[in-house]
Amino acid sequence: MRLTNEEQDFLDGKHGAILRKTMETLVRYGDMYDAECLVPLDGPVHLVCSFGMPALKPLSRIMKEMIDAGIRTKLPFTADPQPLDYENVTANQQEQEMYQLLYGTQKEYESMLAKLGLKDENAYTCACYFDEVGNTPKFGDHLAWAESSAVVYANSILGARSNRTSGVMEFFSGIIGKTPKFGFLTDEGRKADWIIELKTSSLPRPQILGSAIGMKVVEKVPYIKGLDQFLGTELTPAVKDYLKDMGAATASNGAVALYHAENLTPEAKKDGAGLIRENAPVYIIDDAELERVVKSYPILWADLNAKPERAFVGCPHASFHQLTEWTEIFEKALRETGSDKVAVDTIITSAPDVIAKFKETEHYDRLLKTGVKVSHICPLMYMSNPLCAKKSIITNSNKLRTYSTARYVDDETLVNLVVKEGF
Ligand code: F3S
Repeated sequence: MRLTNEEQDFLDGKHGAILRKTMETLVRYGDMYDAECLVPLDGPVHLVCSFGMPALKPLSRIMKEMIDAGIRTKLPFTADPQPLDYENVTANQQEQEMYQLLYGTQKEYESMLAKLGLKDENAYTCACYFDEVGNTPKFGDHLAWAESSAVVYANSILGARSNRTSGVMEFFSGIIGKTPKFGFLTDEGRKADWIIELKTSSLPRPQILGSAIGMKVVEKVPYIKGLDQFLGTELTPAVKDYLKDMGAATASNGAVALYHAENLTPEAKKDGAGLIRENAPVYIIDDAELERVVKSYPILWADLNAKPERAFVGCPHASFHQLTEWTEIFEKALRETGSDKVAVDTIITSAPDVIAKFKETEHYDRLLKTGVKVSHICPLMYMSNPLCAKKSIITNSNKLRTYSTARYVDDETLVNLVVKEGF
């Protein structure tokens, strides 16, 4: 990899041993992918590792060494959600003891993040790109992020440029303020490998469409034709929410880091079909294909007829617009069934800054009246507790379904289930 004199100085140890090792790691990483050079980051990093696990000792050791040497990230960074919120996501004594084993060093870890440059105590969310949070990249920005749902959002909807880096690598990039240039940071790497032709009778559920695309193209770049017939050509808040949830499913059911949606996402609007590689294969998605995909999901509950014990909505974290929308959906369902409150413990997860804004609206009290709670946690971290994984949890998130024992249900089914308490 071509290095500037300034970068070579880091590699030669002129800025100390810690920054030498940090730079050497980035250079080796870049060399592995035939990167041509390092490029300056245009925005803050976003740390995927937001949980203090005793098992992550090597990372803690590195962070402690950096703190002792007064090293911080170049820009204040954001991080994935915190794992626990007993006020809104209750846990019994045994479960809490298990969480203590899992996330026993959470406080210490958070205090290290603060010293290393965490933006503020509200910076914990996977949707750092929300306006309320403020880590919102611009078109063309070079980034080094690892959180899969955030990378696919930044690349596809905002037109920023990030590889799906690893947890430690994004942190090191944030310290040096640079990242190796390869893959999605290059024009060539952003070309579409697949054409997706949408031939459904109506707008598909984003979670299922994303799942179908992810499973087919895996880590390749899809160019989606036909979404604009349902979503229009403008990135309104509702359209961005749709694409956020669809993208997270492509990134978790496959490993998609970038998609283009014809006439909709910024690069597709700018370059159109010129983005598609020659001889790109075509995947046609119709109603039957989506049905096949949904039927292929395994259900990991011990008792398939169990009553749901808890429902999670908001993976990735719900936007302000979605919190408002869900309030009205639950209110309507309760009115129709003549009930006051949901019958199943239901939690919508969102970013702390978004929740703070939501709390200032009348919708917040209205949502609480339905019995639904709002929390800032990551539901997957909740499900990582083996005692909680045994529970009958439902979710409308295909990402949560993929990585845990939670059972996927679509939005309408979820609402029916939590209002009526059973299948
Ligand atoms: Fe976010 Fe956790 Fe889902 S990090 S995308 S809420 S798995």
